[in-house]
Amino acid sequence: MAIINTPLETGKITFKNRLVYPPITIAKGSPDGLVTDESLNYYEEKMRGGSFSLCVVEHCYITRQGRASARQLSIADDTAIPGLAKLAEVIKRAGTMAVVQMNHAGSCTMEEVTGMKLKGASPVRNPRHGGVPEEMTKQDIKEVVNAFGKAAERGVAAGYDGVEIHSAHSYLLNQFYSPLTNQRTDEYGGSLENRIRIHLEVIEAVRKAVGSDYPVFLRLGARDYAEGGNGTEAAVRAAKILEEAGVDVLDISGGMCGYVNPESQRPGYFGEESKAIRAAVKIPVITTGGIKEPQEAEALLREGAGDLIGVGRTVMKDSSWAGRALECFR
Ligand SMILES: Cc1cc2nc3c(=O)[nH]c(=O)nc-3n(C[C@H](O)[C@H](O)[C@H](O)COP(=O)(O)O)c2cc1C
Repeated sequence: MAIINTPLETGKITFKNRLVYPPITIAKGSPDGLVTDESLNYYEEKMRGGSFSLCVVEHCYITRQGRASARQLSIADDTAIPGLAKLAEVIKRAGTMAVVQMNHAGSCTMEEVTGMKLKGASPVRNPRHGGVPEEMTKQDIKEVVNAFGKAAERGVAAGYDGVEIHSAHSYLLNQFYSPLTNQRTDEYGGSLENRIRIHLEVIEAVRKAVGSDYPVFLRLGARDYAEGGNGTEAAVRAAKILEEAGVDVLDISGGMCGYVNPESQRPGYFGEESKAIRAAVKIPVITTGGIKEPQEAEALLREGAGDLIGVGRTVMKDSSWAGRALECFR
């Protein structure tokens, strides 16, 4: 019996199978970050047939200060709720769970779009993209934490089955987590415990906003693949702390290297990290990266690289992929 078709029950969440459509920014939002018909049509096409157990909606900015790009979706104020609700409805109508990803881009924000100064963990150049930000003050951090909580509340109001905190791909929370971009000397910098202090505060704020029964996911940019950056050991320790703090699902991707692994293009190229993390935690782990064939997804499940498998670019090219993948093993 193939694992890919097997449901996964966590007590809080039921995944009907192991396939996840990962967050993929399609840049079809309105200038105000509202969901457009173009966005709805895109997701409608990708979710048709309901073959994915879960769709994580692309990263939405939680404050204008943290906006990454011109046509990114917003979850920064209540005007975004009706559009996000329509989007959740499109996904859920297909028979797939909908989770919305919440993000602050930090030093990767586009100043020309926000009209505001770049702010990040420390005044160092972001190795992936972006400039040199101002160091966030404690008041700035408080505002970010608060904004994540408010955004999560909007996710609930829009009918999502869960929210995902974005801490990967060199965005703000990743900037705190990675020693490459966090050179703070206060309680938010230095040790791993300090570098993920903001994560714990965000999780607490989100939990307060959504209640104990609501699923909270976190996407962790586990490893940087760069000298002086985070490695697997840090990722495993962080994962355990994040689990303890109340995260329900860990979604594993890359850190300052973005969503690609500079050292490997093999299907499931973050599999080594996700496998080590999965062995250390009890909550489900999603692994994503470079999967093209259904057999590759099944092999990753079998080798314990993840409980759930994200497939993005392959599905961008072929909307019927997930249905065929499940069919292969029936
Ligand atoms: C165009 C594009 C947009 C993306 N947008 C996001 C995003 O909004 N949030 C996120 O966490 N990852 C984003 N990603 C990363 C994907 O979720 C995924 O991790 C990555 O594409 C690797 O998986 P794949 O090889 O199956 O595509 C994006 C990737 C692409 C190609």
